[in-house]
Amino acid sequence: MEDVLFDIKELTHRYTDQTVALNKISLQIKKGKKIALLGNNGAGKSTLFLHLNGILQPTSGQLLFKGKTITYDRPSIRELRKQIGIVFQDPDSQLLAATVMQDISFGPHNLGLSKKEIIERVEWAMKQTETVMLKHKPTHFLSLGQKKRVAIAGVLAMNPEVLILDEPTAGLDAYFAQQIINVLNQIHRQEKTIILSTHDVNLAYEWADEVVIISNGEVLYQGDPITAFQQEEVIERAHLTKPWVLETFQQLVNTGMFHSTVKIPVSKKELFESMGNQTIKI
Ligand SMILES: Nc1ncnc2c1ncn2[C@@H]1O[C@H](COP(=O)(O)OP(=O)(O)OP(=O)(O)O)[C@@H](O)[C@H]1O
Ligand SMILES: [Mg+2]
Repeated sequence: MEDVLFDIKELTHRYTDQTVALNKISLQIKKGKKIALLGNNGAGKSTLFLHLNGILQPTSGQLLFKGKTITYDRPSIRELRKQIGIVFQDPDSQLLAATVMQDISFGPHNLGLSKKEIIERVEWAMKQTETVMLKHKPTHFLSLGQKKRVAIAGVLAMNPEVLILDEPTAGLDAYFAQQIINVLNQIHRQEKTIILSTHDVNLAYEWADEVVIISNGEVLYQGDPITAFQQEEVIERAHLTKPWVLETFQQLVNTGMFHSTVKIPVSKKELFESMGNQTIKI
């Protein structure tokens, strides 16, 4: 049986102004997966993430991590946050220390690691996010994309078992967005679980093992990307569009240029390979 990391049962979150951001959400997140959380603005993605490392507490319902209900006393939360790292949607909520290097060192320092290990981890994280040249810069002078990369570096340096990233590629240029995805894939190979939210359907389609689509505080769909993006009604309700790879493929099938038996591609590479194998009618 696959290990269930998070078991969310009928979780409701009502903010103090009475907004119901999550409405009896039930969801299981399994260990070692790459999960993309999708949904329209205000769907409840960030609210859900803030529950996963204990920043917010459910108004009702249950939240279990590794089979145990999350408890909110200081030692338990400290232990939980060693295992679950979160990158906030807004990097200004994350960056606290004066300089980039101090900021990235903050987490590993709090873990009580040796000085040598802290330096190794911080240097590695800066290298992965190409923030080395920014290391002495005050964080408040950074551009948005630079702030995001420093925030990601800070969580990478903590080496958590579960990484939660709230729109990690938003505001990044195509080069840095790809670079962050490459780092996440590299980390995933070390048996980590990665959960990210995104408005980039192409990224979700190509990258994720599983997508979770939410809207209005409710789960509309959870499953593999190919099946998820064929749920026309769900896609529309969550303000999503079809990934271009899937849409192009379907168009090629509909116009008879591809046989319907061709395996559905999940990446540009697979689509182009299939095109190379087809005898295209002119
Ligand atoms: N602190 C708060 N107090 C009151 N309402 C809030 C608070 N934070 C969020 N909300 C509301 O909760 C709902 C869910 O917000 P949330 O930020 O979780 O959405 P999201 O899916 O992350 O959206 P986005 O794609 O814009 O980041 C929204 O209606 C929002 O207005
Ligand atoms: Mg959000």
